Amino acid sequence: MKQNENFLEVKHPVLKRDLTILRDLKTNPELFRSAVTRISTVLAVEISRSFSIIEKEIETPLEKTTGYFLNEDVVLVPVLRAGLGMVSGFLSVLPRAKVGHIGLQRDENTLQPLEYYYKTPSNIDKSKILLLDPMLATGGSSAAAISFLKKRGAKDITFACLVAAPEGVELLETKHPEVKIYGASLDRELNENGYILPGLGDAGDRTFGTL
Ligand code: PRP
Ligand code: URA
Repeated sequence: MKQNENFLEVKHPVLKRDLTILRDLKTNPELFRSAVTRISTVLAVEISRSFSIIEKEIETPLEKTTGYFLNEDVVLVPVLRAGLGMVSGFLSVLPRAKVGHIGLQRDENTLQPLEYYYKTPSNIDKSKILLLDPMLATGGSSAAAISFLKKRGAKDITFACLVAAPEGVELLETKHPEVKIYGASLDRELNENGYILPGLGDAGDRTFGTL
């Protein structure tokens, strides 16, 4: 497998601890959701490292000083369902971000991802889009979500996931080479059912308790 140039694995002891909570089959949805939120917060901090800022004078209670303001129009786009779990962590770091949604399901005949829900602000061509989905497995869902966003005019897309498989990273690198991917772990491989190994199971079911 070739070196994955577009995937940035964010390394931090807190992420390792929280990933362990996610991977553990004994973790209940309450603890699972809180770990997803904490990991998302760290990813949001890391992704926003490259954001531009503008300077404006402000006044402290004592004197004037330089204030710094983020100069980006950010739109978070969680992929339904499991991406929803990442929204609050991202919003805690980027509270002014707008939130769009994409719903995808697999067509039973063609096995192609179909868009069943789409809502984002209309001017996404000028926005920084942060696509959120905890799992990058085969890459089919995220590749389709990125295509749907591009069709609506999105030009600046970053993908944030929790766990990725090399197969999915490679697919995105082929189909959307300009999209940077941030994740907390690049896992080993997919199994025969398209699940990530060692992975954490079905992220949607574990987030919402629908096992
Ligand atoms: C999961 C996950 C991704 C997709 C990843 O969603 O949240 O969207 O699978 O797999 P892929 O890379 O092979 O496309 P799922 O389809 O299980 O839906 P859910 O979020 O409603 O559980
Ligand atoms: N979707 C999930 O939720 N988990 C996987 O391991 C693969 C796809």
